[in-house]
Amino acid sequence: MNKNVIITGGAGYIGSHVCKALAQNDFIPICFDNLSQGHEWAVKWGPLEIGDILDSKQLDRLFHEYTPCAVIHLAGFTSVGESIANPIKFYQNNVVGTLALLDKMKTFGVNKLIFSSSCATYGTPVKIPIDESHTQDPINPYGSTKLIIEKILRDFSEAYDIRSVSLRYFNAAGADPEGVIGECHDPETHLIPLILQTAAGLHPQIEIYGNDYDTPDGTCIRDYIHVTDLADAHIKSLLYLLHSGETTAFNIGNETGISVMEILQKAEKITGENIEYKIVARRPGDAPCLIADSKKIKKELGWKAKYSKLHDILSSAWKWQFKHN
Ligand code: UFG
Repeated sequence: MNKNVIITGGAGYIGSHVCKALAQNDFIPICFDNLSQGHEWAVKWGPLEIGDILDSKQLDRLFHEYTPCAVIHLAGFTSVGESIANPIKFYQNNVVGTLALLDKMKTFGVNKLIFSSSCATYGTPVKIPIDESHTQDPINPYGSTKLIIEKILRDFSEAYDIRSVSLRYFNAAGADPEGVIGECHDPETHLIPLILQTAAGLHPQIEIYGNDYDTPDGTCIRDYIHVTDLADAHIKSLLYLLHSGETTAFNIGNETGISVMEILQKAEKITGENIEYKIVARRPGDAPCLIADSKKIKKELGWKAKYSKLHDILSSAWKWQFKHN
């Protein structure tokens, strides 16, 4: 079997960790990335093909040259706040771009896809923890783009036998335990890197978006999942599809809720720094509490988190932050 796997967005934070996991499992990651958010230095385990999923000619060349056994599709815009301010960018890139990619898969007879979906497809949950049967009702355009793509994938599975696994990520965090790659967004909007950058003296303080939520300490609760465990879920999903698995979706989280204030306190312990913060208004598009029920992927694919402790997640991110600075 051809071991080439095309990975769109492979130069990004999650993508680079998936590339490493692919190489460790004897696949060849063919990284396809326009480098609008990814980094050339993060591509270490296979070729980098610079290009855009909206460019039909580049996709033709890519599929023709590499004849992949599967595609892992992570390219897309992810900032919730930006999606509210600029939805056309998100629908254009995330939805239209995915359609263009699927069209090429159909043309070239590649019928296995792993898609980076999100817990943002659930919106404000009516039941915690959230399992895969929970109603999907997004509260921001980012989540809507992911849900639309999931629906397209189900239709493509029926009509064209393009089988897919949608991985509904909860909050990806942490860095490669060997310290080779890690999180690096520009601008950075995510809580953990911003807190660690504040600890490192790069910002005077961290702004906390609201402490009046209906949660024990009033700040938002999220389920943080180590990016290496997330990468492993892609490998398990790939093997599942290669063994004729049917189209499905899995949650990927640690099944543990941690508040913004708890992250801050734990980060102070790990870094040994006093981290200044300021409570500001809520950020539009934020759900108060998102905690995964991940039993389905544990049971069906045998996936299990190796780095489930918040300590491991934060200390790997801190190690990376330190090195990267
Ligand atoms: N937060 C702050 N201050 C900051 C940044 C974040 O208080 O400076 C809070 C947010 O309000 C939220 C929590 O920290 O309550 C986590 O925020 P992140 O921006 O780190 O992550 P999100 O939960 O917004 O977003 C992530 C992914 C999205 C995904 C979403 C689903 O980046 O792609 O999880 O919840 F859709």
